[in-house]
Amino acid sequence: MTTDKPPTTSALWDDPVAVVRLGADQALRYAEAIDQREAAPTAQALAALTQFDERLPTGATSPLEALAKLEAVGAPATMGSTGPNYFGFVNGATYPVALAASMVVNAWDQNAALPVMSPVSAKILEVTQSWLVDLLGFPPQTDVTFGTGATMANASCLAAARDHLAGTVGYDVQALGLYGAPQIQVVVGAGAHSTLRKSLGLVGLGRERVIEVPCDDQGAMRADALPDLSAADGPILACAQAGEVNTGAFDPFDALADWVTERNGWLHVDGAFGMWALADPSRADLVQGLTRADSVATDAHKWLNVSYDSGISFVTRAGALRRTFAAVAAYLPPEDGFEAMHHTPQSSQRARQVEVWAVLRTLGRSGVQEMVTQACDAAQLIADRIEQAGCTILNDVVLNQVLVRYRDGETTEALIDAIQADRRVWCGPTQWRGETAMRISVSSWKTTLEHAEHAAEVIVESMARATQRPR
Ligand SMILES: Cc1ncc(COP(=O)(O)O)c(C=O)c1O
Repeated sequence: MTTDKPPTTSALWDDPVAVVRLGADQALRYAEAIDQREAAPTAQALAALTQFDERLPTGATSPLEALAKLEAVGAPATMGSTGPNYFGFVNGATYPVALAASMVVNAWDQNAALPVMSPVSAKILEVTQSWLVDLLGFPPQTDVTFGTGATMANASCLAAARDHLAGTVGYDVQALGLYGAPQIQVVVGAGAHSTLRKSLGLVGLGRERVIEVPCDDQGAMRADALPDLSAADGPILACAQAGEVNTGAFDPFDALADWVTERNGWLHVDGAFGMWALADPSRADLVQGLTRADSVATDAHKWLNVSYDSGISFVTRAGALRRTFAAVAAYLPPEDGFEAMHHTPQSSQRARQVEVWAVLRTLGRSGVQEMVTQACDAAQLIADRIEQAGCTILNDVVLNQVLVRYRDGETTEALIDAIQADRRVWCGPTQWRGETAMRISVSSWKTTLEHAEHAAEVIVESMARATQRPR
């Protein structure tokens, strides 16, 4: 049928399967091509993004037009973070089974808030919770919930900690808010991630009103520098970290857990990526005492390589999440198994657990361990190669993070510029001890030792260009 008139909205959906198939085919073409692409888009692809600057159509348009635009203009401008050569921030890739499961979950479009709304989501949640608790070695009563990322997982855990601690001195934060609430003594390491402080701010404990514990040269909290607090000063919330974002360093969890237990406090750990070291017995010394924490925040979109967004909260104090997040409404059914909406800040929610389940079901215990080992070995290989070529490795490479300086801050900036202009691999900057350093994070399941060799070669070639660059 040809007509000059725009289609009516109902006519757009005459063949809904064709629309979805087109999108699925497009997604597959993208996934197939990504390994052959550079790790970053070309300048032309970025310039073409202005093609999205259109007026909102006054009437209906074909859904095929929207899809065509995503393929022609959107896809070329993506970062190659699902390939093997992207080492920026701490951004994971996506296992094929995670991508496939996410497509299925999107088709299901379940509201995972309550078992009655989605029995299958509730069942898979229950299984995923028990697998994670078992795999990582948390106590059996641990509550596990899903949200958007490590930031919101931190916020969820900290909200539960706040309410529990205030409750120990007879104060009900949920009922009364923080007006007149008891002062909670919040202890954080000087190397805490910025989003941990953001989460503290979000739950009303303050980004700045914290007692900061000095760190060692790797950014790990010094157990010998913990403050001299007595319970009389107010309940204690200690926030530790598994995996410093530059160095991958781990705080001394056993010492912290002892310190907190003596003071009847709450130990929270931000383990956004580092928590996954629990799955690798050869790294047991790094995570010693981590599962003694009252709460741990992590995510699955970094190292477990599921697609965004997927945060996970572990709270070992049974009932604490429910105390903070339960909602009451006349239309809600009586308690019926583990109800996600009564344990998380969100009500309606995507069944994020399905992707995590699919990855765990596919990798098994040994596969998760291999995922950690492979990334750590690749990080060590890159560090060794570029150190031999003249870079300084600023951290002890204990995990998947490599912190690099080439001569000085300025030359390091030139190196990062050269790597980013080359586009075969992608690494970004950070500040370390007041000067620019380069961060390499190996978080993609696709990065093998061959890719690590290749990345090191590109970095070494870029070192030559960085020193030739006119200043
Ligand atoms: C240690 C740490 N905590 C928290 C976060 C925030 O994670 P998300 O972006 O998933 O909220 C990150 C991100 O890199 C991190 O490395």
